[in-house]
Amino acid sequence: MSAQTDTQKKVTIRRLAEMKKAQEKIACLTAYDASFAYLLEQKGVDVVLVGDSLGMVVQGKETTLPVSVDDMLYHTQCVANGLTHALLITDMPFLSFTTVEQAVLNAGLFMKQGGAHMVKLEGGVDQADTVSALNKNGIPVCAHLGLQPQYVHKIGGYRVQGRDAEAADKMVADALTLQQAGADLMLLECVPETLAAKITETLDIPVIGIGASVDCDGQILVLYDILDISIGIRPKFSKNFMESSGSIDEAIAQYTSAVKDKTFPAVEHTFS
Ligand code: KIV
Repeated sequence: MSAQTDTQKKVTIRRLAEMKKAQEKIACLTAYDASFAYLLEQKGVDVVLVGDSLGMVVQGKETTLPVSVDDMLYHTQCVANGLTHALLITDMPFLSFTTVEQAVLNAGLFMKQGGAHMVKLEGGVDQADTVSALNKNGIPVCAHLGLQPQYVHKIGGYRVQGRDAEAADKMVADALTLQQAGADLMLLECVPETLAAKITETLDIPVIGIGASVDCDGQILVLYDILDISIGIRPKFSKNFMESSGSIDEAIAQYTSAVKDKTFPAVEHTFS
């Protein structure tokens, strides 16, 4: 792997905050192994997420629920080995943060043994104490609102969240509470454009969208979706970047450019 150069400064929380302030879009993608992690960085991706989507795209499961702490740790180690300067986030898998103590222990594992720089966890105001405890222990947190795939059986499927006024107000309140508790980053999944814009404008911390419009401070997609190798139907908010490029390298480069120049996501990838 190549050594870090001057043009490849480490992406830190401070850098992401500067990017929000400067209205410079943050390009994020998921990765699950060292080779792709290396390639993503070479193509200008700022943030790499070891998503629990690995349960679906790597393990071939129907949902993210079966993913274990050991699975996440193993793939985090693989991805960390491929990175020199991108910020590495690891998802807290289903039922790995049911108590504050359990959350600190597992998140600590991802940081200490995995090489993660931040953990991501799904949930609203109910997770404020956990976010606060992680924050107090020096573990940066990306909160995850909107569609939360770990709740798929509770919400009865994968659908857009925050469409009615009450749900929208609750999401804004949740976002503010999580920021107050110490979250450093916010991810919004499948959220209508106007609500995503409101949350992005309201929060001081950067907001990353997936199916949450171009108004967010940055974008993330599942790597396999942009490479058109996902099992099943590609979600509306995603885009097959292989269609317009001849290679995997070029597809990833095109994704990064499209996020940076705000041509992705377009209207057809956005919910109203
Ligand atoms: O697991 C995952 O890939 C995610 C997506 C929202 C990017 O959390």
